[in-house]
Amino acid sequence: MKPFSKIFSLCVVFFLTGLFFLAISTEATFHITTVEDSAFADRQRMKPVVSFYHDEHNAAAGIYDCSICHHVWEDGQRLEYQDSVGMECSACHLAEPGATEMDLIRAYHLQCRTCHMEAKAGPILCGECHTGPK
Ligand code: HEC
Ligand code: HEC
Ligand code: HEC
Ligand code: HEC
Repeated sequence: MKPFSKIFSLCVVFFLTGLFFLAISTEATFHITTVEDSAFADRQRMKPVVSFYHDEHNAAAGIYDCSICHHVWEDGQRLEYQDSVGMECSACHLAEPGATEMDLIRAYHLQCRTCHMEAKAGPILCGECHTGPK
């Protein structure tokens, strides 16, 4: 093969692999319509669950970088180009207050609400998020 056609076929292979992973990642999330962290499952919930249409939310908000929410931190810095997709937030932020630097309830509230306040879009009141399944 000529070097050019080799590079070209490599590109095709990378492109198709990319499409494949895109396909499985969308398949893995389109069904999510609420946030119900398993860490809250074994206790009495104080509030109705939070309605969250994962893919529709992110498309409407124009967020394409998964690591904005599914982040990885090291030495006090959020790492760019690394994500924790597939891990629940409670894998790192424990529900018991004080057990981790950022406990789970605070982690959710800080992440969801801070962006809504900065974007001046999206709910910020308790009852606007804790609606139960919709
Ligand atoms: C606005 C924040 C946000 C963004 C952006 C985001 N996610 Fe999520 N995602 C969540 C939340 C919240 C959950 C549910 C809570 C949990 O699993 O801890 C979740 C759950 C998931 C799950 C678990 C699925 C399951 O069956 O439980 C996967 C997989 C996932 N997201 C993939 C992605 C991918 C891939 C992207 C980027 C294309 C992405 N997410 C972008 C917030 C986000
Ligand atoms: C792989 C482990 C890991 C996962 C998974 C993870 N985090 Fe974090 N997060 C950290 C670490 C480490 C920090 C730095 C502060 C600390 O040590 O608690 C942090 C910081 C934060 C902060 C404060 C800084 C900021 O970004 O404003 C918020 C809020 C937060 N996480 C929310 C979440 C939410 C919500 C999820 C799930 C969508 C999540 N985290 C998933 C490890 C993780
Ligand atoms: C990085 C920014 C960002 C983060 C993080 C984020 N949101 Fe949003 N959210 C938005 C924006 C922007 C909108 C308004 C989108 C529009 O114009 O419809 C929105 C809208 C919403 C809405 C109303 C529209 C809808 O999809 O029903 C809900 C509910 C919501 N967000 C829940 C959440 C929850 C729960 C979390 C945390 C797990 C979260 N959001 C995290 C940016 C964010
Ligand atoms: C921007 C959306 C948003 C707003 C606004 C919000 N929450 Fe939450 N809250 C969440 C998410 C997401 C979780 C994690 C839900 C889960 O996994 O069940 C959560 C979890 C909780 C939990 C732990 C689970 C439970 O039911 O015991 C409590 C308590 C709670 N919120 C109370 C409040 C109160 C009180 C307010 C108003 C001061 C409020 N929240 C406002 C998104 C929000």
